[in-house]
Amino acid sequence: MKKYVLDLRVSSVEALSDKHVLIKLTASQALPDMLPGQFVEVRVDNSPSTFLRRPISICFVDRDSNELWLLVAAIGDGTRQLARLNTGDMVNCVLPLGTSFSMPASADKKVLLIGGGVGVAPLLFWGKALKDMGCEATFILGARSAKDVLLLDEFNKYGRVCVTTEDGCMGERGFVTNHSVLVAEKFDQIGTCGPKPMMLSVARYAHEHQIMCEVSLENQMACGLGACLCCVEKTDEGNVCVCKEGPVMNINRLLWQL
Ligand SMILES: Cc1cc2nc3c(=O)[nH]c(=O)nc-3n(C[C@H](O)[C@H](O)[C@H](O)COP(=O)(O)OP(=O)(O)OC[C@H]3O[C@@H](n4cnc5c(N)ncnc54)[C@H](O)[C@@H]3O)c2cc1C
Ligand code: FES
Repeated sequence: MKKYVLDLRVSSVEALSDKHVLIKLTASQALPDMLPGQFVEVRVDNSPSTFLRRPISICFVDRDSNELWLLVAAIGDGTRQLARLNTGDMVNCVLPLGTSFSMPASADKKVLLIGGGVGVAPLLFWGKALKDMGCEATFILGARSAKDVLLLDEFNKYGRVCVTTEDGCMGERGFVTNHSVLVAEKFDQIGTCGPKPMMLSVARYAHEHQIMCEVSLENQMACGLGACLCCVEKTDEGNVCVCKEGPVMNINRLLWQL
């Protein structure tokens, strides 16, 4: 897909928790085509310690308002600076980058989307794409506590939402892989994004039940274009750059101990 370097204008910044913000960006022209699972390399201005762009998943593309949504967890200097953006600020982005989640062969397939923490970000756009093709997705959203469950109202628009919280304040108590829907139902396809231990547990479940599974890797990145080799992951075909051959990869390609 053709890549663009665009100056996007911040149309809103909404604090979703003490750590998470939803940033909506708009362009003077129609936003380019983007696929669920792809990401944006964001230039972080006004952060003297942030030299490189930061990779952020495409959370949603609203074609009606011509807005790109980014869900950001403020964990370091770069993301904290992004969380301080104001309406009207300009943000330079390279997009769209990387691979996307696979769409099922037909609308009757049961697709399960599992996200933990800020890893829920790319699943919203994928859920929308699934709904557009007539496929009602099931989401499992995992968080520490109720206040960390992100974009619940938005996810409810695109499928059935199951929640797990570690303290049991909302949904079922435990981790995403403890949710009862995994025992009660059989899925045809799984996609997941979140902390590596969570994705490993999901991949083990999928492997055990012989379900096609894709994970969205969050290896640290610099160039985002396959040039610096700082994001490599070992696969059955040797080392690959996650920014180009990922971030979405089938678990069968990875050398994880399943
Ligand atoms: C493809 C992709 C998509 C991403 N999507 C999102 C998203 O939608 N929303 C979001 O908030 N974040 C996302 N991230 C993670 C985000 O890019 C990092 O949190 C960010 O680069 C940290 O930058 P910083 O300057 O704030 O922190 P830094 O000061 O660079 O780092 C702060 C701390 O976090 C650690 N760290 C930095 N990057 C990562 C990482 N990728 N994995 C684990 N630890 C890391 C550092 O080692 C350090 O300890 C994504 C990452 C990738 C690769
Ligand atoms: S981030 Fe530079 S090669 Fe992937």
